[in-house]
This record gives sequence, C-alpha cells and structure tokens, in this order.
Amino acid sequence: MGMFKVRVAEVLEETSNIKSFRLKRADGAPFGPYPAGAHIDIVGPTAVLRQYSLCSPPDDPDDYVVAVKLEAASRGGSAALHDQVEVGHQLEISTPRNLLSVAPGADQHVLVAAGIGVTPMISIAYHLHRIDEEFELHYFARSREEAAFCDLLKDRSGFGDRVFFHFGLARDEQPAVLGSVLAPLTSSSHVYTCGPQGFMERVKEIASAVIAEDNVHIEHFQAGEATDTDSDTPFEVELDDEVYEVPVGKSIVQVLADNGIEVDTSCKEGICGTCIMGVLGGQPDHRDQCMSNSEKKANDQIAACVSRAKSPRLTLELF
Ligand code: FES
Repeated sequence: MGMFKVRVAEVLEETSNIKSFRLKRADGAPFGPYPAGAHIDIVGPTAVLRQYSLCSPPDDPDDYVVAVKLEAASRGGSAALHDQVEVGHQLEISTPRNLLSVAPGADQHVLVAAGIGVTPMISIAYHLHRIDEEFELHYFARSREEAAFCDLLKDRSGFGDRVFFHFGLARDEQPAVLGSVLAPLTSSSHVYTCGPQGFMERVKEIASAVIAEDNVHIEHFQAGEATDTDSDTPFEVELDDEVYEVPVGKSIVQVLADNGIEVDTSCKEGICGTCIMGVLGGQPDHRDQCMSNSEKKANDQIAACVSRAKSPRLTLELF
C-alpha cells in the first residue's frame, strides 16, 4: 500500500465535535482524481492509523478533504487529529481505496447517510452531479448543529436541490421516513448508505423489499458485532506450494507474517479490504464486512485479516 506525505492546508470546526482537514501533497504535486466514495488511511501524530472517507470533489486534483469526528472512546486516532494537528503540520496518508463504487446503469441513486456517515456520500454526490445522473442525498442527524457540511451541501455544492435533511427524528420515526425516502425505488435503483450499524441495517431492510440486496451498498466505518470464535478450528493455508497451519487465535495474515510473507493490511478488522487475497481452492469462512454478499458467495477472495476456512485447507494467492 503506497503511503505519502501531505501538508495540512486548512482545519475547520464543522461542528462541536467534527473537524475537517484540507490536505495537499507535501511535494506540491497534484493528487489527481480519486474514485467517488473512496477512503484513505491517515497516520496521525500518535502513529495510530485510521480510515477516513474523502469528501472533496473527486475531480479536484489539488485537495483532499476528510472530516474527523472526535470519538468519545478514541484510542488516539480522532483525539490526536483533533487536539494536535494544525495548519502546516505533515501527515502520512495512503492512496485512496474504494469499497463503495457507484453502480453503472442505475435509473436512480439514493444516498442515505446518518451523522458522520455523510462524508463518503458527499463525494459520491459530487460525482453523480458531475456525470448528470439521477440522485438524491438524504442526511439524518440528531440536530442541524450536530450535522457537518449543511451549508456546503445546500448552498455551495451545486446540487442543493437534491439534498434533504432529516434532523431530530426519534428512533421510532426513522422507519416511516426511510420508507417514504425509498418508496420511489425501482428494481434498477441503487442505494448507498453509511452511518451507525443499526441505521444501515434498517436502510438495507427497507430497500431490500424493492431492490436486490446487491443494489444496497453499505460503507462500514467500524467493525460490527464480534464473531463467536469459540467454535474456531485450525486449518491450513497453501500459498506458492508452501503449506502453513493457521491455529485458533491467529489470523491468516499473522501466520503468513510469521513466515516472512507480508500481506498489506490497514484496519485488521475486516472493514477496509486492504488484505484481500485470491482464493484458488477451499471454502472461506467469510467474517469481513468489506465484501458484498455476491463477492462472498463467489468464494474466490478472502479478507485474510479476519476470515477463516470452512474446509481443511485454503489455497490462496497474493494480489
Ligand atoms: S486489513 Fe482491513 S479488511 Fe483486512
């Protein structure tokens, strides 16, 4: 995974606990465009690496913008960025990766965000607006004060008429509102959602009544429920004609690293997709949240940081 240095060109307080950071390449070169919905890894001042979605226009070659919410339980990631990073500081970031691609051939795209989950939806909205696709962006938050980028979205994005705010709804009011937001879907519509796990599951459940599950695209910011590991068993991994045993309590990535084979990783929680390897044989036990259901059913890829095997041996290849 390529990492490079950037300079912080601007820091803005978007809300009382969300700051945006405008980044430029430290060497002065342009970034070039990035795929809408992509995220980057940022290594903060305490060397903690976290993923953040880009929310600047994807075709802006010069700037990347990320928004960082100060998490109450921050283990050094968001807190260090909030407290220690100022204009002029340097950070290290990865090249953008995309797990939330815009689907081709949709009759409409409905973007449904909650809270800080709006960030990947902003770059997708910029992109859809630029290529003149039919879309709406629905933004749920506890209040306008707690919602970042409201003025940008309504007044300066160029697509303010496609943005709809849903602020201050009680939890039990959400399903009805989501139902009306998603009511105009057809079988060729696509829905993209990012926010808390329960919110995304409600969106998926309501949308899946009309569109195929694979037309609902979910961006996970955090690992979901922990998998029950009590019934884990050892298995073998074959790579380049060598066989390694993966014991209970160790991941494929760890076992390969123990044997001098480095697999690129980032989140190590099954959410970013960096560690995905090819599967040439055997049946994976998918435990990630970064691949779609159809990708998992194909059984030809595996997120090697968390997933295990249902068969005694997996034959893998490095991408
Ligand atoms: S390192 Fe992120 S999914 Fe494996």
